[in-house]
Amino acid sequence: MKTVKDYIRTIPNFPHDGIMFRDVTTLFADPRGFRMAIDQLLHPYADQQIDKVIGLEARGFILGGAIAHQLTVGFVPIRKKGKLPGQTISQDYKLEYGEAVMEIHDDALKAGERVLVVDDLLATGGTAEAGIKLIEKLGAEIVGCAFVIDLPDLGGRALLEKLGINVHALCAFDGE
Ligand code: PRP
Ligand code: MG
Repeated sequence: MKTVKDYIRTIPNFPHDGIMFRDVTTLFADPRGFRMAIDQLLHPYADQQIDKVIGLEARGFILGGAIAHQLTVGFVPIRKKGKLPGQTISQDYKLEYGEAVMEIHDDALKAGERVLVVDDLLATGGTAEAGIKLIEKLGAEIVGCAFVIDLPDLGGRALLEKLGINVHALCAFDGE
């Protein structure tokens, strides 16, 4: 039987030379693959109370929306700077080159709410760490961070686990 990893396409030298781009559009486009990914992302949290699903822009929105629907809970986006229309709080984070900023509406979560954070890929962990800081500033509790892909060589899992965060990934690519 095919695994989630089998549905992920690798595109060499995108967005620039030397990068092996792990493309989840082929996973999302396949009805069995997409359902398998959503089911497996949720699996460890089946017996836990989750009040909201948080998606990290951009591919985390696709996964997070489907997961929130499955759980019948609300969905909250964490977006790149300048995209959210209401009052926001911001957190900067490091990119491969330079810095970026993530934002959340300041009224999107209530203190004590239990949230599941979702994104397609964990690399250095900078994006997820920025999301975690925003969620914690609003007083919500992070049940876990779920990713389709972990790139363990880049250290994101170690970084998040050091922060005490439960990390769940469906597959890993290391030096392949
Ligand atoms: C990619 C990926 C993750 C992030 C992981 O997003 O979708 O969100 O990088 O990298 P990190 O663990 O090193 O932070 P990208 O920033 O390319 O933006 P996009 O999802 O909006 O395309
Ligand atoms: Mg992203």
